[in-house]
Amino acid sequence: MLTGKIALITGGAQGIGAAIAEKLAAHGADIVIADLPSQRATFAKVQSAVQGLGRTCRFVDMDVTSQSSVEAAVAEAGQIDILVNNAGILRAQPLEELSEDSWNTHFNINARGVLFVTNAVLPQMRARKSGRIINIASLAARQGIPTEGHYAATKAAVVTLTRVYAQETGADGITVNAICPGIILTEMALNKLVGADRETWTQATSLKRLGQPSDVGGAAVFLASDLADYITGQALNVCGGLYFH
Ligand SMILES: NC(=O)c1ccc[n+]([C@@H]2O[C@H](COP(=O)([O-])OP(=O)(O)OC[C@H]3O[C@@H](n4cnc5c(N)ncnc54)[C@H](O)[C@@H]3O)[C@@H](O)[C@H]2O)c1
Repeated sequence: MLTGKIALITGGAQGIGAAIAEKLAAHGADIVIADLPSQRATFAKVQSAVQGLGRTCRFVDMDVTSQSSVEAAVAEAGQIDILVNNAGILRAQPLEELSEDSWNTHFNINARGVLFVTNAVLPQMRARKSGRIINIASLAARQGIPTEGHYAATKAAVVTLTRVYAQETGADGITVNAICPGIILTEMALNKLVGADRETWTQATSLKRLGQPSDVGGAAVFLASDLADYITGQALNVCGGLYFH
């Protein structure tokens, strides 16, 4: 389905990004993981999984908060047919206790990072008159969650950027969509799901289970494939029926 395509996934050394890499590779794509240099050791796991599927998997150093780092990584990566903007952080805190530094860090990684990476990749996609961009937002963008107000605001920004990029690039054959995952069992979610919380959230889903990173990977394959040719500027909830708008 994706044979001959090359996908670059930011923050893909672990968690949802790594699962997206594996799913895209299982459908034929070669993979470039763009993550912080400190993630090179962690990357070995997804690299061997992707190689086990018969696809290539390279690592490029990228800090999405640094425009020069982003541009160097994109140049090193070469051709990129599918861009997945996945890098993100969540450090939960009530809004009234939030420091300026935490606000800025969340926006710089989660929102401005999408801008830097997308702008660095678009010229080559425009030149080829094709490209797929998938932004990993969050259900938090739909419905703010207590202690995650700053994070939710960054993800709402990602959804809005998705809609505007779709309109600004559609004439060049590029689609831009977002995925809003619910609670997906990665390090990020496990850090906040303590005790009874986990059971409460599980029961709140229609499917009575929390998400696996591969659940998000499946949605990414669909949006990257020809099956989604006429879909752009949309935000798809992947949340097990936790939320409906
Ligand atoms: N896990 C969830 O429940 C959940 C739900 C909704 C949305 N999301 C979103 O999915 C994405 C992946 O989350 P995850 O759960 O896999 O988290 P994770 O913490 O396991 O992985 C995040 C990745 O981003 C990378 N990263 C962080 N800062 C970076 C930077 N400055 N430059 C480049 N890479 C950087 C990290 O090194 C890491 O590899 C995030 O955007 C997150 O907001 C997660």
